Amino acid sequence: MNTIIIGIAGGTGSGKTTLTERLRDHFGADEVSVINHDSYYKRHDELPYEERCKLNYDHPDSFDTPLMVAHLRELRAGHPVQVPVYDYTIHNRSNETVLVKPAPVIIVEGILIFDSPELCDLMDMKVFVDTDADVRILRRIVRDVKERGRTLDSVVTQYLTTVKPMHEQFVEPSKRKADLIVPEGGHNLVALELLIKWVADHLKEQ
Ligand code: CTP
Repeated sequence: MNTIIIGIAGGTGSGKTTLTERLRDHFGADEVSVINHDSYYKRHDELPYEERCKLNYDHPDSFDTPLMVAHLRELRAGHPVQVPVYDYTIHNRSNETVLVKPAPVIIVEGILIFDSPELCDLMDMKVFVDTDADVRILRRIVRDVKERGRTLDSVVTQYLTTVKPMHEQFVEPSKRKADLIVPEGGHNLVALELLIKWVADHLKEQ
């Protein structure tokens, strides 16, 4: 089986997940497997919770990218992989893994995937979801408080100390690696339609 690997990057709260889900819903889970860079955040068992809260999770070094590269190569070779499960509420990798199966289309999602030349080399199409910073931080506040066990104060402090400076240093410049820049992610129906057509054409060729 020939595999198409699509990278979907963009700042925090930009709408990467919505775009990814719409693509997967269109083609179905048998055709599309998703693998998220966030699953590869490094383990920090050596630090207590209070210290883990203060780490910089927006720097490329906070991810075990070599493991993700290895997993993508396995998937492309037709082998299933056990992907780590990250728990944002404890700022650490959990002890669980999930099985990700090879599929004709693999979507790789994450804020910093285009910062890694090894990951970029594996991608057939690179999409950057471009959403204004005010919209992104508003979405992030709601999500982190509702789903990731955070307080409003902690989200604001983290945004100003690490998320925003790292976005400007690493995420925004990585946009230049993209083949396609999509304003507003999965809500941009014209871009979604174009992407669906591109994927469908490539699947037909196989
Ligand atoms: N992060 C965090 N605490 C951790 C690990 C990661 O707050 N222990 C945050 C990082 O600060 C990073 C964010 O998780 O900015 C990455 O996830 P994000 O891109 O916001 O979420 P997705 O759902 O993948 O993307 P989108 O909102 O675009 O759909």
